[in-house]
Amino acid sequence: MAEKTVLNQTEEKQEKKKVLFSGIQPSGKITIGNYVGAIKNWLTLQEDYDSIFCIVDLHAITVAQEPSELRANTWNLLALYLACGLNPEKSTIFVQSHVPCHAELAWALNTVTYVGELNRMTQFKDKCARHADNINMGLMDYPVLMASDILLYQTDLVPVGADQKQHLELSRDIAQRFNSRYGTTFVVPEPYIAKHGSRIMSLQDAGAKMSKSDENENAFISMTDTPDEIRRKFKRAVTDSDTRVRFGDDKPEISNLLTIYSAFAGCTVQEAEKEFEGAGYGVFKPRIADAVIAVLEPIQKEQKRLLADKAYLNTVLAEGAEKAYYRARRTLTKVYKKLGFVPRA
Ligand code: TYM
Repeated sequence: MAEKTVLNQTEEKQEKKKVLFSGIQPSGKITIGNYVGAIKNWLTLQEDYDSIFCIVDLHAITVAQEPSELRANTWNLLALYLACGLNPEKSTIFVQSHVPCHAELAWALNTVTYVGELNRMTQFKDKCARHADNINMGLMDYPVLMASDILLYQTDLVPVGADQKQHLELSRDIAQRFNSRYGTTFVVPEPYIAKHGSRIMSLQDAGAKMSKSDENENAFISMTDTPDEIRRKFKRAVTDSDTRVRFGDDKPEISNLLTIYSAFAGCTVQEAEKEFEGAGYGVFKPRIADAVIAVLEPIQKEQKRLLADKAYLNTVLAEGAEKAYYRARRTLTKVYKKLGFVPRA
């Protein structure tokens, strides 16, 4: 009896944890920007939050994808999530298209989102410029689908990189608008954007975000790059003509490299500055490569091992989809009721 009470209390505590949701698109190569801006924070947060990590394939198709590549990228990303340390025993890990509620809720949320709001999204404008031959409705509607992902799980916290801030603000607006029109339905989510590392910049242009879709391979470090590639890319990283390793607005390239170093070496930017005081870029650059390789090598090894175990990966996805579906359906039922839909008999 006493044992049961303890168990119930533990379960209750588990249930009371705040909900965290985040995701990554399985499009292109995942970069150290995605790792530092998102995954690395997820690893810490999953210990304290009821966490849901999604592979957002519905989002990925807003830009033309080769189907066989999308499939491979989805497996690779799942294996990467697990190899980095996301734990399916603690967190829910699933593929977006396995839970149809995401697309269903997005439809309903479309009716409380204004075209003007979507037109103002900077990522939409950027993507229109980059994919002028494929400005499809999905591209424009992308932030509504993202709001749906988040609101379906009554999410409290959304850890993302700085580039997602505007989408997060729209998700909050949509939640508040729906709540005031139909009565409280959704938790209004809070963004979690880390002070350092939420915007890792290109190694070739410190004015541009490091991006997996960059055409210049030297601009980003992929999570699957070999040690040689990593060393070569850091060696070629653009720097200024001053040789001091110092953080500051006047030194955007070195500030970016310091941010990367501190994220991988596990120190603060100030500690990194001290470490390289008096040392030139010739000393600094190889050391960044060493720090990144030390973290990536074991992850790559584990990712490879997991990719060879499709049976296990399938089990993770099946369990993740089941857990996610149950929760998502509950919210969707509530939404349909609020909207006045007659329930299916
Ligand atoms: P995506 O796939 O572009 O990127 C995944 C995560 O990585 C972060 N990120 C970066 N952080 C720091 N520096 C960078 N250079 C960098 N590049 C990317 C992104 O901010 C993101 O956190 N729309 C989202 C995916 C998504 C989502 C969601 C996220 C769909 N639904 C619901 C949170 C909640 C995206 O395109 O991420």
